[in-house]
Amino acid sequence: MSSTDPLLDVSGLTKHFPIKGGFPIRRTVGAVQAVDGLDFTVSEGESLGLVGESGCGKSTTGRLVTRLLEPTAGRITYRGQDITHASRKQLAPVRSEIQMIFQDPYASLNPRQTVGKIVSAPMEVNGIEPPGGREARVRELLETVGLNPEHYNRFPHEFSGGQRQRIGVARALALEPKLIVADEPVSALDVSIQAQVVNLLQKLQKELGIAFLFIAHDLAIVRHFSQRVAVMYLGRIVEIADREDLYGNPRHPYTRALLSAVPEVTADDVPARERIRLTGDVPSPVNPPSGCRFRTRCWKATDKCASETPPLVQVAGSRDGHLTACHYPEEPAGTASAVPKARTAPAGPPLPGPQKE
Ligand SMILES: Nc1ncnc2c1ncn2[C@@H]1O[C@H](COP(=O)(O)OP(=O)(O)OP(=O)(O)O)[C@@H](O)[C@H]1O
Ligand code: SF4
Ligand SMILES: [Mg+2]
Repeated sequence: MSSTDPLLDVSGLTKHFPIKGGFPIRRTVGAVQAVDGLDFTVSEGESLGLVGESGCGKSTTGRLVTRLLEPTAGRITYRGQDITHASRKQLAPVRSEIQMIFQDPYASLNPRQTVGKIVSAPMEVNGIEPPGGREARVRELLETVGLNPEHYNRFPHEFSGGQRQRIGVARALALEPKLIVADEPVSALDVSIQAQVVNLLQKLQKELGIAFLFIAHDLAIVRHFSQRVAVMYLGRIVEIADREDLYGNPRHPYTRALLSAVPEVTADDVPARERIRLTGDVPSPVNPPSGCRFRTRCWKATDKCASETPPLVQVAGSRDGHLTACHYPEEPAGTASAVPKARTAPAGPPLPGPQKE
């Protein structure tokens, strides 16, 4: 790996879950197109936010990257090594460097094990004996995540939700990872606790240089944590950009709609945004719309959107590294027409388009 290579390089990543049916012989009758051709990179020490509505494929992406799932197609390169279909044995050294933090701090900790046992488990599994012993290392890790090292022998139920998530973080740190995939690590927590856990992760990113793939439902949480953000819709990335560009100059209609639900992100130099309320449900990933998958909810959709899949590219008026998948991107910020026009669904049969509030 050269110094300029990204830590993680994902290209064309695809996961289709087969649907079985038929009797008496069960055959594959279709597929859930959960993830469909993702391209993105994560550099050393960087945080990439992955945002999108429920069911758009965020967790599947996280589980593919950590190789808990086998990809249907595409390539995953970690530190220059192709790990797409690496065997268990080949993966062993990589497994310790890529860790995952889960959404539910209740379900992800074994209630019958002490904190000491839970946090030292990765060292045990990998036969790692740190200088000073495992117990000393666990106490050190508990301190790093803001827990009392004296609580080594307590059980998960003796901790609050926020503290349990800290235990999960300590466990993820046990093998000194270079990349943490954090799958909605705070969405199960009280709002008042969320910021504390995000601050902890931010501290780890800065002080330990750990890279993050940070998965979230909405754009508010990742705003303070991720230097770059990718927006997903129905298995695909529709926009990816540096934080400033994505929040200040969103070009994809879907990003614009998501951002309009987060009023405080409007920067001083960007005209106040109207609220765009998307109506209609996200279509099924079993039978996604042709062309642009967002077209059934997009107020700008035309025939071209149904017949041609818009590629994820840099569109006019965007800076390098800011990519958008749309045939008719939103006007760049700072242009006279950047103030959104009235959102109306296209002529023809009524579409479940967005509604202004
Ligand atoms: N093992 C599986 N078998 C079949 N379908 C699956 C499987 N795992 C996920 N899916 C489907 O794949 C799609 C993407 O799911 P995924 O969990 O990745 O979404 P998500 O973005 O993480 O959603 P959420 O925000 O609700 O966590 C969904 O339609 C889901 O039902
Ligand atoms: S390609 Fe068409 S349907 Fe898709 S987001 Fe752009 S305008 Fe809307
Ligand atoms: Mg999920």
